[in-house]
Amino acid sequence: MSVPHQMKLRITVLDGDGIGPEVTREAVRVLRSVANLHGHDFSFENKPIGGAAIKTAGSPLPVTTVDACLESDAVLLGAVGSPEFDSLVPSERPEAGLLLLRRALGGFANLRPAISYDAIAAASPLRPTIAANANILIVRELLGGLYFGEPRGTTGENGNSVAVNTMTYSVPEIERVARVAFSAAMKRKGKVTSVDKANVLETSQLWRATVSRIARDYPEVALDHQYVDACAMHLITNPRGFDVLLTENLFGDILSDEAAVITGSLGMLGSATIGGKVGLYEPVHGSAPDIAGRNIANPFGAIASAAMLLRYSGGLDREADDIEAAIKAVLEEGYRTPDIADAGSGYLATTAEIGERVAEAVAEIADVHRAYHAV
Ligand code: NAD
Ligand code: IPM
Ligand code: MN
Repeated sequence: MSVPHQMKLRITVLDGDGIGPEVTREAVRVLRSVANLHGHDFSFENKPIGGAAIKTAGSPLPVTTVDACLESDAVLLGAVGSPEFDSLVPSERPEAGLLLLRRALGGFANLRPAISYDAIAAASPLRPTIAANANILIVRELLGGLYFGEPRGTTGENGNSVAVNTMTYSVPEIERVARVAFSAAMKRKGKVTSVDKANVLETSQLWRATVSRIARDYPEVALDHQYVDACAMHLITNPRGFDVLLTENLFGDILSDEAAVITGSLGMLGSATIGGKVGLYEPVHGSAPDIAGRNIANPFGAIASAAMLLRYSGGLDREADDIEAAIKAVLEEGYRTPDIADAGSGYLATTAEIGERVAEAVAEIADVHRAYHAV
């Protein structure tokens, strides 16, 4: 019999704005349940980010927050952003805090799985015959492109203003994220679709040439290329045609919200940012100010992010699998937030009720493992 190993993980929790605190609370609840079940030692330290940090500390990313993140084993984030800061320039907004944090932590590959669950197939506007069994891993480059390119800014005033952003990519930046995508494909269905705009952009031509060259190191993986405009269409008309979708920062931002529609809701998607000093785990959705504070936000994406935290920062594959199995089980039991409620099946549950039920389901699944190993 193998000796269970106890894992110590120091997790910095940045719940942020809007629904961030509501969904993150449930992800932490599930992590605590996993720690209790397996005897792991997970500690949680909350720090401010985004609009909440602007209000309390005068900055969207206080130094004490970055330092705590860099000293921890993993960072779990909710969401940032609020309409009250919409008039600020980009560098002062809550979102700037998140971008600075991403750069400080150094993770360049953002993994965004989009999975169609049978139990909530009716929540997607796509016909079940199209969305059924879709399982796409979007690998989004996270530290380059228009988000970070220089020069950037606005000059001149009023009618004479000119604004500039710069899209830059270097060969090493493309190579490292491409390797993450090919490695992931080897453990999946063995296919990478690289998405670019190589018919117009030099950055995309370099992207395509570099990805094609790296592909030679992965002969088991099939590579194809799509232009981003056509990809936006193929994602919706033939989502099962994708396995790993590799793309640059802005295209990945847009296509991952689109891929969420395949699953039924933006609230379903979790993410992991890897390759840096400390892993960053956050749902794909934003702060959803339109539904904040009402205990109706979908916490499954935040909980899925917690599972990825255990897998990528803790090496706890079994525990991560159990959380993912619990998500599926709770959906099959019929628990629904309004965004995934549909006419035929299920019943409405609050954000907290879903978190509580997933935490219980994780325990039930772990009991089944124990019983199995005892015989
Ligand atoms: P959003 O993702 O917050 O919301 C888009 C729509 O999806 C809304 O109707 C919202 O109610 C719904 N939605 C999102 N998450 C949901 C959930 N978990 N459960 C149920 N419904 C959910 O995008 P937005 O409205 O364009 O942006 C709001 C703010 O969030 C902006 O300030 C934006 O910059 C910020 N934002 C932050 C992040 C992040 O922190 N990672 C990501 C995206 C947007
Ligand atoms: C996301 C968000 C962020 C991004 C914003 C809030 C900076 O939309 O994580 O998808 O554009 O990367
Ligand atoms: Mn986004």
